[in-house]
Amino acid sequence: MSKEIEKYYNKIAEEYTKQHGYGEQLSIGSLKKFIKFLPLNADILDVGCGGGQDSKFLYDNNLNVLGIDVSKEMIKLSKKYSPETSFKVLNVIDLPSIKKYDGIWCSRVFHNVSIKEQDNFLKKLRVLLKKDGILYLTSVVSDKKEDYDIFDLNNKITKKYLMPKSFKDLLIKHNFKILKFKYWEGKKGMEVFAQK
Ligand SMILES: C[S@@+](CC[C@H](N)C(=O)[O-])C[C@H]1O[C@@H](n2cnc3c(N)ncnc32)[C@H](O)[C@@H]1O
Repeated sequence: MSKEIEKYYNKIAEEYTKQHGYGEQLSIGSLKKFIKFLPLNADILDVGCGGGQDSKFLYDNNLNVLGIDVSKEMIKLSKKYSPETSFKVLNVIDLPSIKKYDGIWCSRVFHNVSIKEQDNFLKKLRVLLKKDGILYLTSVVSDKKEDYDIFDLNNKITKKYLMPKSFKDLLIKHNFKILKFKYWEGKKGMEVFAQK
């Protein structure tokens, strides 16, 4: 699956960052809340950092940030946008679990993780967090009374839709304590702050 994700985001990197990255300011409120949950000089992993705008915000607020993304084009843009921040081309699943983080920021990524793969993905995020570490995660809200994946045949990527209860239950199943849940982007999206 990650090969297709990589190809897709390599193709749309420029367009995506122009439209949803730099200048959009959508995540600023949530980033500020995230920082409040963290200790001073915390170690942060930005999973699926895209063009690096959120990594830069965290770095500028004195946090130690590593931004990772499977797309090398996204990482190229990130490095150009914020040369002082650390970025790596990497699938989070392949990140060694030796180093642990105080916080994981994972914004607008989880909808590309299929229902079948989501347990594995969350297990990995949990392992990468320190005890009491904070996870920020977003998802797309289902417009039906069920969770479902749509497979985009052209781009060969999944878009997943979750009911709010399923999203919360999933985090609880993975032993996270939900600190805050909120809809965002109208009711099309949702976000949680959760603690390990
Ligand atoms: C919709 S973009 C979001 C980018 C950024 N977080 C934002 O909010 O603007 C999703 C990004 O996640 C990356 N991605 C998806 N699955 C990933 C994984 N398993 N490991 C690392 N990056 C991943 C994609 O390459 C893409 O750049």
